[in-house]
Amino acid sequence: MARTAEYNLGPFTFPRGWFLIAKAEDATDKPIALRYFGRDLIMYRGSSGRIAVMDAYCPHMKTHLAKNTTSYVVTDGKQIDGDDIRCPYHGWKFGPDGVCNEIPYSPASIPKAARIRSYPAREWCGFIVMWYDEEDNEPQFEPPLLEQWSDPKWVHWKIDDLGEIACHPQEVVDNIADKAHLGPIHGSTDIGHFENVFDGHVMRQSTITGNVKMPGMRFTNETFYTGPGILLSRMGGMMDSFMLVAHTPIEDGTVKVWHGLTAEAANDPPTEQDLQIVEMFQIYSRDALVQDFEVWANKEPCFEIMQVIGDGPFGKTRTWYKQFYNPLSEAGNYNVDGKIITKGTLRDAWPEKVTDAAE
Ligand code: FES
Ligand SMILES: [Fe+2]
Repeated sequence: MARTAEYNLGPFTFPRGWFLIAKAEDATDKPIALRYFGRDLIMYRGSSGRIAVMDAYCPHMKTHLAKNTTSYVVTDGKQIDGDDIRCPYHGWKFGPDGVCNEIPYSPASIPKAARIRSYPAREWCGFIVMWYDEEDNEPQFEPPLLEQWSDPKWVHWKIDDLGEIACHPQEVVDNIADKAHLGPIHGSTDIGHFENVFDGHVMRQSTITGNVKMPGMRFTNETFYTGPGILLSRMGGMMDSFMLVAHTPIEDGTVKVWHGLTAEAANDPPTEQDLQIVEMFQIYSRDALVQDFEVWANKEPCFEIMQVIGDGPFGKTRTWYKQFYNPLSEAGNYNVDGKIITKGTLRDAWPEKVTDAAE
């Protein structure tokens, strides 16, 4: 396992951005414990529907807010009070912003330090996402806008939780620039187009390829990161679909990975058969990601890629990725905006723009 400092990414241990942390259905009026960004966190859904994510420990005497089953605060079913949460130990109450707003037994005014670090969080496409930022700035961009999610013709993904691997997220992000793995790992043939575009916090890859399993067919993919942790890939060819690959740091040097696939059904509303087709397509897509995953889970960390002609733009990708590990005021030093076409992939011109889904 390698740490962020060994990749020379910047002063922050974890990148700034939106990250998946749980399935939306896991956010209820029962707070749950989570662990990401090297921190113990809690999450719950207030009675207004608001999602709260904050550090796990009460500032009074450091009680874990979500690891209690026996306190009367919990067994009375009143731990979540409106959008607030009560500590199981002495009943201090905190808003979803982490600020203490009631100490039930004390006539003294509430100390200023009686607050818990909280994080912007919301529901996104069947998940809960949170904004992590070591400087605690407000979100600087939005999670990707997936308009199709609210279109009844689009079949929602079933969430694949691929678990945790001891692999630094840098190694996962490298993949978006990696032209030469497409053949050996995914069975791509005849790569007629491989282009990367860097655009602020967004990075894109567009490809046109064949595949060994489906001779004669051509596939267009437009894949993009919106920030450092959420990747969507719009896939044309057999059906219009988006693949999701998301990764969230747990400790310095480990990540958790999720996958999903949402696709437009042939019928409106989708038939039982449409649902089965999309489910099969998702399994096919997940199996392709598992092929990457097996490499990530077993490789040694690579601090310097031995770049050769024909490789994609790994160096620029790593520079782009550094913006998220540096103070916002210095993120501009890592601006590599522009387009890179990897050598030997100019045969197929890109058709009209496939997607504008990224903000
Ligand atoms: S430890 Fe939380 S209220 Fe005392
Ligand atoms: Fe891959």
